[in-house]
Amino acid sequence: MEQERQERQIPRHVAIIMDGNGRWAKKRGLPRTMGHAQGARVVEQILEDAKDMGIRYLTVYAFSTENWSRPAAEVKALMNLLRTYMKTSLAKCAKNNVCIRVIGDKSKLDEDLQASIAELEKETADNDGTGFQIAINYGGRDELVRAARRLAAAAAEGTLRPGEISEQSISDALDTAGIPDPDLLIRTCGELRISNFMIWQSAYTEYYFTETAWPDFTRAELERAVEAYQRRERRYGGLVQ
Ligand code: FPP
Repeated sequence: MEQERQERQIPRHVAIIMDGNGRWAKKRGLPRTMGHAQGARVVEQILEDAKDMGIRYLTVYAFSTENWSRPAAEVKALMNLLRTYMKTSLAKCAKNNVCIRVIGDKSKLDEDLQASIAELEKETADNDGTGFQIAINYGGRDELVRAARRLAAAAAEGTLRPGEISEQSISDALDTAGIPDPDLLIRTCGELRISNFMIWQSAYTEYYFTETAWPDFTRAELERAVEAYQRRERRYGGLVQ
């Protein structure tokens, strides 16, 4: 699979900003929470499709540090969807060899949700198939602040000299430590911005924007994004050989 992935230049890591659940629901005269519920079903399908296509890592933006400002009922509905996901996905992850990691500041989540996340992460830690990262209470700047605090604490303890801080040590202090940077970042539903998502990790990431709302996102759309990625020339600031 790895050889085939390289030959066809399948992105190793795909990150997705799943936007448009609310607009999708509104268009159908449904409550916004129905859009999120359909969005959660699409997440499960796309995880399978990604695995099938040879994508090794998939990261999805489920809840940002800014999403707390939404109406309490919507926040509660989103948290309940995540709660259900953490509780029901263990069996599927075991079967599909998926390794789950939640990125973001988990300390602000309800304790029962933190406990289910910890259990799911622990139980799937040795799975060496698809790496599935779910961003919850995640903000790229917040992640960098927490990383800076970790590095400063190590410096204060005397275990790290300031001059030793490098791009690698910053990467290693982020929630995504050990996970390769995303090759392709997809944002659905028309907005052309990255909204504080993986700002350090996406320095050389290729972006793909689509008008499709997340609840309508399909494997065919994922394949179109990958094809667009395959047509790009990645130079990392250098020249093409
Ligand atoms: C953006 O749509 C989407 C979100 C803020 C939440 C994403 C969450 C899910 C898809 C469900 C849970 C995920 C998992 C991993 C089970 P929006 O509400 O901002 O839509 P709008 O811009 O049209 O209002």
